[in-house]
Amino acid sequence: MKVLQIEGGRPLSGTVRIQGAKNSVLPILAATVLAHGTCTVHNCPDLTDVVHTLDILRCLGCRAQREGDTVTVDASAPTGCSIPDDLMREMRSSVIFLGPILGRMGRAELSYPGGCELGPRPIDLHLHALRALGAEISEQNGRLFFSGRLTGADITLSLPSVGATENAILAAICADGTTTITNAAREPEIVDLQTFLNTMGADVRGAGSSVISVRGGKSLHGGEHTAMADRIVCATYLAAVASAGGEGEVTGADWRQISPVTTVLAEAGCAVHSTEDTIHIAAPRRLRATRQIRTAPYPGFPTDAQALVMAALCKAEGATVFVENMFDSRYRHVDELSRMGADIRVEGKVAVVYGVPRLTGARVRSTDLRGGAALAVAALGAEGESFLSGLGHIDRGYADLEGDLTALGAHITRREITE
Ligand code: UD1
Repeated sequence: MKVLQIEGGRPLSGTVRIQGAKNSVLPILAATVLAHGTCTVHNCPDLTDVVHTLDILRCLGCRAQREGDTVTVDASAPTGCSIPDDLMREMRSSVIFLGPILGRMGRAELSYPGGCELGPRPIDLHLHALRALGAEISEQNGRLFFSGRLTGADITLSLPSVGATENAILAAICADGTTTITNAAREPEIVDLQTFLNTMGADVRGAGSSVISVRGGKSLHGGEHTAMADRIVCATYLAAVASAGGEGEVTGADWRQISPVTTVLAEAGCAVHSTEDTIHIAAPRRLRATRQIRTAPYPGFPTDAQALVMAALCKAEGATVFVENMFDSRYRHVDELSRMGADIRVEGKVAVVYGVPRLTGARVRSTDLRGGAALAVAALGAEGESFLSGLGHIDRGYADLEGDLTALGAHITRREITE
């Protein structure tokens, strides 16, 4: 079994550059299906989710290859319009291909992404957006079939879903006329997608606000783009320093995008200083509890950072209340944190973290991507050695977690152990 062996209880000191954003790169690579030519995407982290995305592109008849951190996709002549079940199962976010495939090919076929480690993850808003654009949708044996010529429409999302907003934009590019998406998600990754699409000749406006308009019906050409830095990976390393103590610097990330997290870390007693390209954090000997942390759509506190900050606050002085508003089952890391000595009570969407004076190293298992990274964060602040398994979850979103944490001064190695 592969594990991360982490020697905790040592203050960190170092600098790390933040990788490209997974949640930006996945929709951008899906968008390349729309190009009548070759697209080049720089700053693509080497993640299993990206590997699966390239597999889907190849399944659709596109040529896709990676060289270092640059991925090139030639979608001049796509031949397929269906995504096999196993690739849908590997990666829930493969549903993001729906809009581009339907838009480009006039037909699409895939299976329900189904539930996942964060609880049920419905796609009703994706389907609502596509229906509004004129798609006909039918279902047979768990497979969904989409067809129809798309026409611009006014789409109102009942909640600002990131994936549904992206799917609606991507489908609307190929629709005749103008589409307006109201109550759109405002995440920075959607701004990044808009920038990429416009370099390909699209006319998308308003990303970053709640109303996005797309003038569709244009044929897109290839384009070149550098993906934004990953704000959640950035939050991970800031939380690691907060948990272990010491100081560290992250470079390449935009501090504005991560300010809901840095504000909390500052309230917990960390000194955080940001410049255009760097965020410097110095942690006190012991953190203190903060006001209630409620996850919310951007620019609120990100659900993806909930477990990470919780891990750092396990040893804080006082009790911190978390309210998880975005997903139903996003406290699975709590049982694992308890193995290290954390005192956390969960009831429904609320978790109360009673700070303990110390955590101790333990054998723990990742339950999901960010939950797994959170266990590494806690282990860095725990006395003694921890062994973290379930690395498949972590490798979905971190290109080199152990390398990056080593750059920050952590003692962490990936190794094989017998169970
Ligand atoms: C994206 C991110 C994920 C992050 C999440 C919320 C990617 C690849 N993933 O996921 O890391 O945790 O945003 O910031 O970008 N919902 C519905 N019906 C739908 C779609 C969503 O009810 O059709 C609900 C979800 O169950 C959830 C909420 O909307 O409760 C937000 O989900 P959404 O913004 O769609 O998340 P994802 O795009 O899947």
